Amino acid sequence: MPTYQLKINRKTYTVEAELDTPLLWILRDHLKLVGTKFGCGIGQCGACTVHINGTATRSCLLEVPFAVNVEITTIEGLSKDGDHPVQQAWKTMDVPQCGYCQAGQIMTASAFLQRNPNPTDEEIRNAMHGNICRCAAYNNIEEAVKLASK
Ligand code: FES
Repeated sequence: MPTYQLKINRKTYTVEAELDTPLLWILRDHLKLVGTKFGCGIGQCGACTVHINGTATRSCLLEVPFAVNVEITTIEGLSKDGDHPVQQAWKTMDVPQCGYCQAGQIMTASAFLQRNPNPTDEEIRNAMHGNICRCAAYNNIEEAVKLASK
């Protein structure tokens, strides 16, 4: 089985995996970085979102050979103590209900605000559109992203 060196949260990991293994399985099953969630496995829900070189990316669709020579950041590496502005806004706005989607939501929001620190409401809605929340906490999510942008 091939081996890969992956840079995740500023550390280098060596993993052995089949060519078509999605990064999500590497994170969760090989490295026990279980903050990144499995939702649909087909790129539809956003629960598995991580940053690849700072861009929000669905790890369920990224096969491991495409995850080398890039900087991967998961929710565990977004901040030291959960103190990223988006995480703080999440707490202030009391966003989570079941909480399952929130890592993916936060990773999408944080990459978006890095690119666009002063978004309009419509830009926030468009950016967050692909991250599904089964509790439908969309208003709170939008308010939290707005708060984090201030
Ligand atoms: Fe990757 Fe749903 S688990 S988008």
